[in-house]
Amino acid sequence: MRILVTGGAGYIGSHTVVELLNEGHDVIVMDNLYNSSEKALERVEQITGKKVTFYKTDMLDREGLKELFDRETSGVRADENGAAAGNSGKGIDAVIHFAGLKAVGESVHKPIEYYRNNIAGTLNLCDEMRAHGVKNIIFSSSATVYGDPAEIPITENCPKGVCTNPYGWTKHMLEQILTDIHTSDPEWNVVLLRYFNPIGAHESGLIGEDPKGIPNNLVPYVAQVAVGRLKEVGVFGNDYDTPDGTGVRDYIHVVDLARGHVKALAKLAPGTGVSIYNLGTGNGYSVLDVIRAFGKACGHEIPYSIKPRRDGDIATCYSRSDKAKAELGWEAQYDLDDMCRDSWNWQSKNPEGY
Ligand code: NAD
Ligand code: UFG
Repeated sequence: MRILVTGGAGYIGSHTVVELLNEGHDVIVMDNLYNSSEKALERVEQITGKKVTFYKTDMLDREGLKELFDRETSGVRADENGAAAGNSGKGIDAVIHFAGLKAVGESVHKPIEYYRNNIAGTLNLCDEMRAHGVKNIIFSSSATVYGDPAEIPITENCPKGVCTNPYGWTKHMLEQILTDIHTSDPEWNVVLLRYFNPIGAHESGLIGEDPKGIPNNLVPYVAQVAVGRLKEVGVFGNDYDTPDGTGVRDYIHVVDLARGHVKALAKLAPGTGVSIYNLGTGNGYSVLDVIRAFGKACGHEIPYSIKPRRDGDIATCYSRSDKAKAELGWEAQYDLDDMCRDSWNWQSKNPEGY
């Protein structure tokens, strides 16, 4: 298939592009490089020995998006209802939509920027897709839509909850928006993938997570302590109702997550409608488990101290991913030690990122 990957220079996007190319798909990447580097795409080409078509385009730039779709779908435009599919020539068979802003804390302070980028940007994207008869989309959603989950492990039947920040609401709303688009035109096929906590890196150590500034997430923070860029890890609370008192999450290797997208392409067959899958391992690990596993991977203990709880955090969040196994034939292959080994491999080879 020929796939447009928005946000394809980013952390999860770049790993997914590798897996798509390895499976023989053609890939077009669209990214404004706000939170990523073009080097990631050069490294993707190095890993796979294949070419990626790249557009440095912002989702908010209507003209830029239109140009991309015009060019990639050979300029054939459908009418405003999306009739007369424009997939002549090379065409675009599906969009995997990663592009978005994702910093939870920042979103609390910049709600307008987050809603504009994530919601308005996605509306622009879908409008151009409709105009060009491209009606297959896989969307990066998040376990954050479950809020403080009503049940653990979390299945796809668990009701969506109350989000604690604008970032989470953008995922919540975009799931609804994409569902409504399908309702308005059943030719649309929508796959909503709810990620748990992606960590790790490609085994080559050529691509990985490269946060700008001080990392907000646990593993990039631990990795920068391990490599000597930061002094110690602050553990946000040790009085949760969990086995060791620290927060428990379902960490998933980013390569497993990337492969989940490749499997999900099969769900874009005509008449499939809206499908929702959790992508997690089904295992919960505590903050201290992660710090210990990372220490083992890098060969020295990671210094840490206990800090107050972080606002908006929940005690425990892990998935049941049986549905993805049954319907997509997808299951996570890597365990926490593999994830820490590969994160460390990336971080130690690229101490300052790209
Ligand atoms: P990332 O920041 O590395 O990748 C997102 C990419 O989108 C970046 O390359 C950025 O430059 C690009 N982008 C942002 N706004 C854009 C715009 N207006 N136009 C074009 N490109 C734009 O993040 P990631 O961790 O790879 O996450 C990918 C997706 O998965 C995001 O939608 C994120 O919300 C979602 N997600 C991530 C996690 C996680 O923990 N990493 C968990 C759940 C869901
Ligand atoms: N934590 C620390 N110290 C840190 C950072 C995190 O103790 O410096 C703890 C947190 O309190 C939490 C755990 O480590 O218990 C994981 O925190 P992360 O920030 O790594 O991840 P979250 O589970 O908070 O959220 C992440 C993404 C969200 C996404 C969610 C999906 O940031 O965007 O996973 O489950 F929605």
